[in-house]
Amino acid sequence: MNIETIKTFQSLKTPFYYYDTALLRATLQVAAQEAEHHGFHLHYAIKANANPKILEIIQGYDIGADCVSGNEVARATECGFPANRIVYAGVGKSDEEIRLALEQEIFCFNCESLPEIEVINAIAGELGKKASVALRVNPNVDAHTHHYITTGIEENKFGFYLYDLDHAIAASRNMENINLIGLHFHIGSQITDLTVFRGLCLRVNEIQARLKEQGILLPHINFGGGLGINYDCPTCGLIPDFASYFQVFADFFEAQPGQQLHFELGRSLVGQCGSLISRVLYVKEGKHKKFVILDAGMNDLLRPALYQAFHRIENLTSVQPHEKYDIVGPICESSDCFGKDRDLPATHRGDLLAIRSCGAYGEVMASRYNLRELAGSYFSE
Ligand code: LLP
Repeated sequence: MNIETIKTFQSLKTPFYYYDTALLRATLQVAAQEAEHHGFHLHYAIKANANPKILEIIQGYDIGADCVSGNEVARATECGFPANRIVYAGVGKSDEEIRLALEQEIFCFNCESLPEIEVINAIAGELGKKASVALRVNPNVDAHTHHYITTGIEENKFGFYLYDLDHAIAASRNMENINLIGLHFHIGSQITDLTVFRGLCLRVNEIQARLKEQGILLPHINFGGGLGINYDCPTCGLIPDFASYFQVFADFFEAQPGQQLHFELGRSLVGQCGSLISRVLYVKEGKHKKFVILDAGMNDLLRPALYQAFHRIENLTSVQPHEKYDIVGPICESSDCFGKDRDLPATHRGDLLAIRSCGAYGEVMASRYNLRELAGSYFSE
């Protein structure tokens, strides 16, 4: 952030989310280009950030949308994503949400249980439509990420288990208004070790080989999202390594003739472009440490409290010698803490702090806990 930007921050009501749209565009450009290079289809996982302005920018890069609620489907179409590039996932879609998605004629429902597919079949029948469905498979591959955001092992609630898959395929194919078009996988989020994705490819190859023996070939394989970003050093990895990520799938997945590959990236597309900007209310001397008390709280950015997530924190307005601080919010919860023992330039009331890498799962997870106002959002251009 340059001096001019920081000067403009001085007059704005804090806390707020600040998005560097030039970085967002540069990131989208690389991701779209690398996907295109392999002929892969990219869908942006709206759950990571559903800010309309961010969505309007993303849809301009020939990227589809991955939605997990009826409201996300509606928001995606309002912001310009074509319905025929929308995939819609979730372990429990309500009748109303299913109806909306069918009326919009989205590309595909990603489904995780037969009872849900039966309901989709029935509602599609009522509307005189056919629903395209991919089965989400729980491939039992460990993503080695935080246990709250790992989804692809058997103890999780997600997907059809491998031993259920044949039955699920046969049953879905028997439903009159269901068009079974693919398999869907998503094993977790913030995955930085690419060998995890290689493991996923190998497991999907095994599954496909088994299906092939039964004469089953489904045209669409969706590998979900999960590519991680560098929270420790945002500036070391402003744009994630999309080339290496997609190359893993090109190298290790044995696509069958005519098969199309899909990806649902969220964090890696928007994570680094957002910061939460907050003003220091007070600096409090504790017995053994100093606390910086911000006007932003866990309701504005939940990740540190919920996942013990690390975000880099910078003082934008002080250049004095460094000291150690715990950086906390104003909410009456001990978990309302953004960072412990952080090295910052000597910090005073009124300073502006930036919490970095907040573009994904930041603004969108905010709440009005304590009846606090929701933080606003500003864009670099
Ligand atoms: N597809 C499915 C089916 C998903 O469940 C998710 C994320 C994605 C795609 C996008 O994953 P990404 O590329 O963003 O890793 N709130 C947590 C992350 C939850 C992720 C949930 N699923 C966090 O703040 O770390």
